[in-house]
Amino acid sequence: MIPNQSNNSIFSDAAEDLGVEKKIFAIASGKGGTGKSTFAINFSLALAALGHEVILIDADLGGADISNLLGISTPRYTMKDFIHGEVTYLAEVLESTPSPKLRLIAGGSDIVSISNPLYQQKMKLIRNMSQLEADYIIVDLGPDISFNNLDFFNAAPVGFLITQNIDPIILGFYRFLKAAFVRRLKQEFKKEQYILNIINDFQNQGWSRKRRNLIGSIRAASREVHGRLEMVLETFQPKLVFNKVESNAAKKTADQMFSFILENFGFRMQTVGYFPLDRDVERAYAHSEPFLLRYPKCHVAKALFELLVVAGLNKTNSGERIESFSQFIRYTKIEAPSWQFLKV
Ligand SMILES: Nc1ncnc2c1ncn2[C@@H]1O[C@H](COP(=O)(O)OP(=O)(O)OP(=O)(O)O)[C@@H](O)[C@H]1O
Ligand SMILES: [Mg+2]
Repeated sequence: MIPNQSNNSIFSDAAEDLGVEKKIFAIASGKGGTGKSTFAINFSLALAALGHEVILIDADLGGADISNLLGISTPRYTMKDFIHGEVTYLAEVLESTPSPKLRLIAGGSDIVSISNPLYQQKMKLIRNMSQLEADYIIVDLGPDISFNNLDFFNAAPVGFLITQNIDPIILGFYRFLKAAFVRRLKQEFKKEQYILNIINDFQNQGWSRKRRNLIGSIRAASREVHGRLEMVLETFQPKLVFNKVESNAAKKTADQMFSFILENFGFRMQTVGYFPLDRDVERAYAHSEPFLLRYPKCHVAKALFELLVVAGLNKTNSGERIESFSQFIRYTKIEAPSWQFLKV
């Protein structure tokens, strides 16, 4: 199932910006266990296999597990060392992985002390993330709708939401999306108290009654903010991935979500992937190995390749476009031996 491809690259605008700003992708969900970390790892590896320099950041500050999932038992440094000031630069925390082009910033294991960094520490973290030297930076977030996750999500130029077509999970995703959008609006208009009042009123009155008019009300309040409001609506374009898909019903949900969000919030969400429920993913997970390397031909690996195509990311670092799944698998094969060798 390949989502609609209306143009060559759904990331064309974002990618152009990112060419300057760096290609930073945040991965969130609003609910636990939807497959964020699995996606983050394999997406990172796919880009690394194509020859790009990739940094994967485990920013699930309350439940970091990427180093375990990559089979790295004791990272030298973790995010905790940076947050606590034991190392000065985030780049010092970079850990090599069995994939030569993929480096990791491991999350800390001391959960209580870092899951709630102070505001200043968080801003320092975000600043340092954008200064890292890499072609792509992938930030894996925790499941909760906390200010940390919302701010990391909004700080990245491209945000992915990994969801499942199950009501409580869709609800979590929708709550996260709504909270992230409101926080983005509030950040943009933090100096315009009258706009903040409009947003707060909508939040306090409940979104169901008057929500249709939030964007309209902001527009009506002042002509001067129109340009900035349009900029928020244009740049806030989360990418949706349905994971553990078992039927075509996910496509219908995706279409409904798209229309609902456009109508009620005025921004466009794009569905960029439907990943099937696949036992091979579980099997690879049980071995702490990415599915892309352990089972490169599995159904989800194919769906991941399709996502790269839709996103315009199916290019090697030398610019060659990878057109077929079989060609893509050849690249992952080059990664696999070094992985096996280094794991033992
Ligand atoms: N497409 C899939 N098919 C089958 N199992 C999957 C799929 N994607 C992920 N899983 C499984 O779902 C479980 C949760 O995955 P993962 O840890 O990546 O989720 P998460 O969203 O990062 O969780 P958390 O919110 O706890 O960080 C794992 O056992 C993983 O193997
Ligand atoms: Mg996770």
